[in-house]
Amino acid sequence: MSGTAPTDFASRLDRTAEETEALLARLLSDAVVADEIVRPKRLIEAMRYSSLGGGKRLRPFLVVESAAVFDVPREGALMAGAALECIHCYSLIHDDLPAMDNSDLRRGRPTLHKAYDDATAILAGDALLTIAFDIITRDEIHRDAGVRLALTRALARASGVGGMAGGQILDLGGEGRFGDREPVDVARLQQMKTGALLRFGCIAGALLGQAGPKEYQALDDFGRALGEAFQIADDLLDVEGDAAALGKPAGADAALGKTTFVTQLGIEGARQRVGDLLARADAALSVFGTRGEVLRAAARFVADRKN
Ligand code: IPE
Ligand code: IPE
Ligand code: MG
Ligand code: MG
Ligand code: MG
Repeated sequence: MSGTAPTDFASRLDRTAEETEALLARLLSDAVVADEIVRPKRLIEAMRYSSLGGGKRLRPFLVVESAAVFDVPREGALMAGAALECIHCYSLIHDDLPAMDNSDLRRGRPTLHKAYDDATAILAGDALLTIAFDIITRDEIHRDAGVRLALTRALARASGVGGMAGGQILDLGGEGRFGDREPVDVARLQQMKTGALLRFGCIAGALLGQAGPKEYQALDDFGRALGEAFQIADDLLDVEGDAAALGKPAGADAALGKTTFVTQLGIEGARQRVGDLLARADAALSVFGTRGEVLRAAARFVADRKN
């Protein structure tokens, strides 16, 4: 890190959020890149609506900070973080569609299908998913094409049938959308729908930093624990928070009949589980000593956040 890098957690998160915002604004401009024909105004505007001007940017932060453990140049990490954020924003657009969670509010604004229409929202999600893979392969990510390939594969696996998208269908199956309400392995479902992208954020740093097996494993363990804790905290906020603070509706899970750790363990039990996961996340970072401080703070942030 440069000598002027902010040291406290909040200002580091702000800095990454600002830089991610600027980078996404540039990547999602209306100017075509090589081999594109035109970026239709309605589609690029919809993509920008859902990816600019909001969000905690926690996933890019995890990429940047896990990469910083290995002194990886910031530019490549930010670029990888932007690719991950595009996948995340696409997952939110589709998650909110009437056919999924049917939500009208996201990041304090009407959801994309409310501001535009369902078809535009589906296509904006498709195009954000696709541009993420354009971004993750770019030269600025890393000089070594082998590293870019490993990141691309890891991002695909975190996003797809065995990751986020797979987790989303398990989530809907648990609601009884496809016939009888299926018994749900909540831990598995949450590891997939939410954990996989957060874990990717953490292992991305290890891949960019060409970490050895022990350090890779440490970030893998950390990312898994943080990912699980994140979704349980989200489920707790759905019960205990309010729409004004959350920027999205509260009480949505109960209304949809979702199975979560709150329905399975109660509020106290779910909180306890977050605490256990925090301890696991912390323990995973021990190999890094003081180099793991910011990631340690990120795990506490995930557990304590109010939105
Ligand atoms: C919300 O994620 C969706 C879940 C995986 C629970 P975030 O809480 O990170 O949403 P933003 O990006 O800050 O809006
Ligand atoms: C969302 O889980 C997970 C993904 C978007 C992949 P939720 O449905 O709980 O997220 P929110 O609460 O709508 O943000
Ligand atoms: Mg959902
Ligand atoms: Mg939802
Ligand atoms: Mg939720």
